[in-house]
Amino acid sequence: MCGIVGAVAQRDVAEILVEGLRRLEYRGYDSAGVAIINNADINRVRRLGKVKELSDALALEPLNGGTGIAHTRWATHGEPSEINAHPHISGSDIAIVHNGIIENHQQLKEQLIAKGYEFSSATDTEVMAHLVAEEFKQTNDLLSAVQNAVKQFDGAYGAVFMHREMPEQLIVARSGSPLVIGKGIGEMFVASDQLALLPVTRQFLYLEEGEVAQVTRTELQIYSRDGNKVDRDFEESSIQHDVGDKGPYRHYMLKEIYEQPDAIANTLEGRIKDGSINSDIFGEKAKDIFATLEAIQIVACGTSYHAGMVAKYWCEEIANIPCHVEIASEYRYRKSFVPKNALFITISQSGETADTLAALRLAKESGFMSSLSICNVPGSSLVRESDLAFMTRAGAEIGVASTKAFTTQLASLLMLIVAIAKHKGLAEAEIKKYVSALEALPGEINRALEQNPLIEELAEDFSEKHHSLFLGRGDQYPIAMEGALKLKEISYIHAEAYAAGELKHGPLALIDHEMPIVVVAPQNELLEKLKSNMEEVRARGGQLYVFADSSSNFVNDDGIKVVNVNSEHEVTAPIVYTLPLQLLSYHVAVIKGTDVDQPRNLAKSVTVE
Ligand code: AGP
Repeated sequence: MCGIVGAVAQRDVAEILVEGLRRLEYRGYDSAGVAIINNADINRVRRLGKVKELSDALALEPLNGGTGIAHTRWATHGEPSEINAHPHISGSDIAIVHNGIIENHQQLKEQLIAKGYEFSSATDTEVMAHLVAEEFKQTNDLLSAVQNAVKQFDGAYGAVFMHREMPEQLIVARSGSPLVIGKGIGEMFVASDQLALLPVTRQFLYLEEGEVAQVTRTELQIYSRDGNKVDRDFEESSIQHDVGDKGPYRHYMLKEIYEQPDAIANTLEGRIKDGSINSDIFGEKAKDIFATLEAIQIVACGTSYHAGMVAKYWCEEIANIPCHVEIASEYRYRKSFVPKNALFITISQSGETADTLAALRLAKESGFMSSLSICNVPGSSLVRESDLAFMTRAGAEIGVASTKAFTTQLASLLMLIVAIAKHKGLAEAEIKKYVSALEALPGEINRALEQNPLIEELAEDFSEKHHSLFLGRGDQYPIAMEGALKLKEISYIHAEAYAAGELKHGPLALIDHEMPIVVVAPQNELLEKLKSNMEEVRARGGQLYVFADSSSNFVNDDGIKVVNVNSEHEVTAPIVYTLPLQLLSYHVAVIKGTDVDQPRNLAKSVTVE
C-alpha cells in the first residue's frame, strides 16, 4: 500500500517524482505529497485526494531542486487528510516518506513527547521522523541516525529520509515493505515499485530485508541489518509491459479484461511442449520435489485465494494429492499441521502481500519440504523468498480489481497440477486432454467476451440493488466467490457467494423478488443438482441470472435471464466463466458511477497486515 518515489539528481526532479506517483497511484490514492530540498530548505506540497490534486497544486506553486521524495497514501494511522499526508518533517530538518506500519508507534511517541517533540499528524510515520531527528542529535550523520532509529521500530517499513543540509543523499531503509533503487546517468532514484521509475531507468536493485542504504547521485552503499557493507549489482529490469495508457478503453479494468486472451497465451507460451507439461518450467529443483510430493498447502488472500480454491478441486481430482487452502491472515496466526513431504504454495499478483509473505516465512520455519510462488511480479519478495517461482506473465495490472492476474493464476495452477500429476503417473492421454483444454483457452475466452453487449444490458437490473447472491457448485463455487468479490469491490453492492447446496441451510431466507441471484452453471455432472437449487430460488420469487452452456437449454422466462457461455472443456470452465462475471461487475460499477479502477478504501498491493 502507498507509493514512494525519491530522486537525487542535478536537474529539477519534481516532474519525475509526480510522474512516478501517477504510476504508483494504483497502490493508494487518498492523499499525495512531495518535498524537495532547495537552498538548505525543505519545501513541501501535500494534497488530499489523488495525484492530480497534487500536480495541479504544483503547477501553481512549483518546487525546484534536485533532491526530493514523494508519496501517495493509503491511510492506516490517521484519516486521509492533508495533515496526515506524507512527506512528514521533523522540525524543518528531516523529511520522510514511509510505507508500512510501525506497531510500537504509541510507545515511541510517548517517549518523544517527553523529550519535547510536537506531533502535527495522527500518523505512525511522524514518529519515525522525530526518532531519526533525535538520533541525529547524537551523531550528526543521517545514515547512522537512521541505522540507530530502525533498531527501535517494530513493524513494517519501506522508508526514505532526507536532511535539508545534506541534499547530496537519500537514506533508505527496508523491513517488510519493498524498496527498489534505480540507477540513471549521474543520478539515482528510489521507489516502492520499479513501475514508478521506468521513464528514467531500467537498471534496478532491490533492498533486502533489514538493509539500510545511502544513495547519492553516483553511488549506492548498502548496509545489512548488523551494519556490514553489502555489495550487490544493479540488474536490467525484466518488466516487458509498461503501464501504458488505457488505449480505446474507458478504464484499465476493461482493458485488462479484454487483454485476457493474450495474457493467457503469454502464460502458456513455451511452457507446453509436444502436448505435455514438464516440471522443469517450475525450476531445476522441481523434478525432485514433485517426485516426492505427498501433500500441498496453498495460502493466499482475496482473489488469489479464490484461485487457490479452484486449484484444490483440480489437485485432488487430477493429481490425487491432498490439498489444503487457507487465507493467509488466518494461516499465519494459528498452529497448523504440516503434512509429510508437503509443498507450500503462495499465490499473489503483487508478490508483496504482507499476510502471504508472513505465512511463507512461517512455513519455511515449520518443516515444509519446499515452497513455490505463483506470482505476476518477477523480483518481488514472495518470488525471491520461495524455493521455486512461476511467473503468471499477465503483464502489469493497474485496475485494483484483479482480472487478468486471476485467470493467468488459474492457467498457471492447472499447468502446475498437470506437471505434478505426470510425476504421479497420470496417463499420457489424460495429460494431452488437459493440455488441449489449456491451449483452447484464448479462443474460448474471446468467445465469452462476445457476450459483453448482453451483459451490459443485464447490468441495468443490478444498479439499484443493495444485495445480491452468487451461486456455484464444485470448482465453480470459488468462481461464484470471485464474482461476488468483484461486484462488491467496485460497485459497492453487497454480494455473497454460496455453494448452491448450502442455500436451504440458511440463505434461502434472504430470497424475495428484490434479490438478484447470479448462477454459474456450466454443463457438468453437478448441473442437475444446481437446477434443483435454482428451482428453490424461483419458487420464492428470486430473479435468476444464469450463465450457462447453450446445450443446457436454459431459456429466458419469468424470473430467469440467461447468458450463454460455451466452454468446451470442463476442466477450464472455471476460467472461462470468470469473464462474464468480471464484465457484469464492471458494467454495474460504470452505471453506478463509482471509481472503477480505484474503488474507495482499497489499494492494489496490500503490504500492511
Ligand atoms: C481483488 O480484486 C483484490 N485486488 C484483492 O482481493 C487481491 O487479490 C488481494 O489483495 C491479494 O493480492 P495479491 O494477489 O497481490 O497477493
